[in-house]
Parts: sequence; structure tokens; C-alpha cells
Amino acid sequence: MQVSPIDVLLIGSGGREHALALALSRSPRLGRLYAAPGNPGIATVATCLDLADHAAIVAACRERGIGLVVVGPEVPLVAGLVDALRKAGIPAFGPTGAAARLEASKGFTKDFCARHSIPTADYRRAASLPDARAALAAMGVPVVGKADGLAAGKGVTVAETSVEAEAALAAIFAEPGASAVLEEKLTGEEVSFFALCDGARALPFASAQDHKRVGEGDTGPNTGGMGAVSPARVFDAELQARVMREIVEPTLRGMAVEGSPFSGVLFAGLMLTAEGPQLIEYNVRFGDPETQAMLPRLQDDLLDLLLACAQGRLPAEPPRFSDETAVCVVIAAQGYPGAPRRGGVIAGLDGLGGVTHAGTARREDG
Ligand code: AMP
Ligand code: GLY
Repeated sequence: MQVSPIDVLLIGSGGREHALALALSRSPRLGRLYAAPGNPGIATVATCLDLADHAAIVAACRERGIGLVVVGPEVPLVAGLVDALRKAGIPAFGPTGAAARLEASKGFTKDFCARHSIPTADYRRAASLPDARAALAAMGVPVVGKADGLAAGKGVTVAETSVEAEAALAAIFAEPGASAVLEEKLTGEEVSFFALCDGARALPFASAQDHKRVGEGDTGPNTGGMGAVSPARVFDAELQARVMREIVEPTLRGMAVEGSPFSGVLFAGLMLTAEGPQLIEYNVRFGDPETQAMLPRLQDDLLDLLLACAQGRLPAEPPRFSDETAVCVVIAAQGYPGAPRRGGVIAGLDGLGGVTHAGTARREDG
């Protein structure tokens, strides 16, 4: 094992990246920690850099001798940041642009699942509104309509009536060049499950559940997530083994066979149906806020694990986690997620551990 310290660059600016920064900074192997762009919370444990594009990131890595880049969000992954880093010989945690299609295109993922017999809802793809109407007529309601593309958690409608379904499809195809996926509606408990992948193999990481509605008791509009709990109460060792066998491992094999081996973290959004676990969607990154609840439970060195993914040499045994439950509660500005009131002062954080920032700024007076 390498013993020399490793300088790490973390890409992103959210609560997830702050949680990653805190976990990385606990590693005895860490040399310097940089973040681009980072946030005021991350700045307490990392040097924040302003790097405009992929070329600037590659140049900064060369200049500073970065030994690992950890990419937090999906947008730079889909845009091929890991491809650019690998080409420059810089180890990077995250999938290539081609492998990130598992998140970027719901249509790709549904077709991929069909090719590899991965359990997921029945579906039809539609490239135009008339196509979508024909698919709707064939499938009936309830039905789930999804825009095919990165939608930052939006663009999905669970329609109980054909009027709702029509309206959802019309909204999707109001965007020029849009395409859609229509799916059978699944029912059950939703779980987020994360697996670390090195291109050839996958290891179970942890499970979590996030809570999306803004209000108390699951009311109000959907948000990026008002909180998360890990592990997911409904997800036991037996279910995890089944998800690895029926969903994650066939995905790793399929991506490799199709020429886009997947490395990084595979985030499976699962529905635990009466017939067994089904894949709702894949994300190709850590979840936010799930990560804030998972990482405090991790008992192994995150830096070692992420580097092993990047270098294609995951260990034999899965990472160890505390059996204790961890919870992340999001405190948002009034008006979130619609039109949040900006500029509110946050006080009382001094001496509190485990607080992560997103969308904050530090004034000169602190
Ligand atoms: P997605 O962006 O694909 O994760 O969808 C967002 C949310 O829509 C999911 O977290 C589910 O709550 C719901 N959803 C998506 N697909 C289905 C489905 N086939 N059946 C039931 N609910 C779904
Ligand atoms: N919490 C859901 C996500 O990160 O996509």
C-alpha cells in the first residue's frame, strides 16, 4: 500500500461535497485537500479554487500534483470531466461520460435494463407527442411520464388519470427536441442504495432513504431532499444481496460488455415491490442529502475506497459501517424550493459538529 500523502481535488459545492470533504479530511493518507468551487463550509477543511472549465481543472491538477479528483455532481460527469482527467493520466473517482448515460438518459437505461434482464417497470419510449399519446393509449393509467434527460429531480409525473398524463406529456414535449419515457407505475417503499464500482466489480456501500416534500408529514412541493436517514429501515442484508445479484452486478457486467465499464458510485433508486426490488432510476454519483447521513457511519477510510475505485482495484471485502442510524435534517431558507428568501443570517453553528453547508456565503464579519 502507498504511504505517501495524496493531494485530492473535490469538484462541487453542495452539502454532499461538504460531507465528502469532512470524511476525506479524516483520512491519514490525505495530503492537501482542494475543492472547486467549494463553499464556505468546505473552506474550513479545504483550499477552494475557482476553475472555469475542464481544461482549467486538468491544468490545476498537473500544477499541484493532484493524486485523486473526486467528482461530486452529475453535470461534470455527463460532460466528460473524468474522460479528460484520465486522458491526462490523473486518477479520478467517477464514471466516464459514456458510463454516465445511466443517469443522463432514462431511455438508454430502460433499454439497457431490457437487454440485461434487470428488473424495472415496463416502459415505452416516445420521440414525439403523437408517439407519446399512442404509448399512453396502449399502456393506460396510472402511468409515469418522464422527460428523457438530466432534469435535476424534476420532469417526472406519476399520473393517476389520462387528463394528468396528457398534461404531463404536453409539458415534456413543449421543450424543443424533447423525448419521453412512459412507465408502468410501481408501488412499494423507496430506497436509495449505493455501490462502489471499479469498472469490473461492485461492492455494497450503504442504503438510505431521503424525504423529498418540503413540509412536515410529507406535504408540499418536492425538493432536492429535506433530509435523509441511513441505513434504510426496510433494507436488510438479504435484500441487499438480492439487489447486488439481480440489479447491480448485471449492470457492471453489461456496461463492461458494451464497452463503457462503470467506475465510481452507482446510486440505485429502488422500489421494493411485492414482486421484489425493481430499479426506478440510476444516478452515477453520491446522493444529496443521503451522503450526509451515510458518511458519518463509515468506519473505513473514504480516500482509500475512492482511490481504489479510480484505480480499478476495489478490495475483496465491502466497507464497514456502524450499525447506528444517522439522520440528516435540512434547514432551508423560507420559501424553499420556490423562491427562497436570500440573505438570511445563520447563527449558532459555533461548536456544532456534523453541520454541512449548501448555498451559504460568509460575510466579512463572519
Ligand atoms: P426518478 O427521477 O426517475 O427517480 O423519479 C422521481 C420519483 O418519481 C421517484 O423517486 C419515484 O417516487 C417516482 N417514480 C419514478 N418512476 C416511478 C415508477 N415507475 N413507479 C412509481 N413511481 C415512480
Ligand atoms: N437525493 C436524491 C439525489 O441525490 O438524487
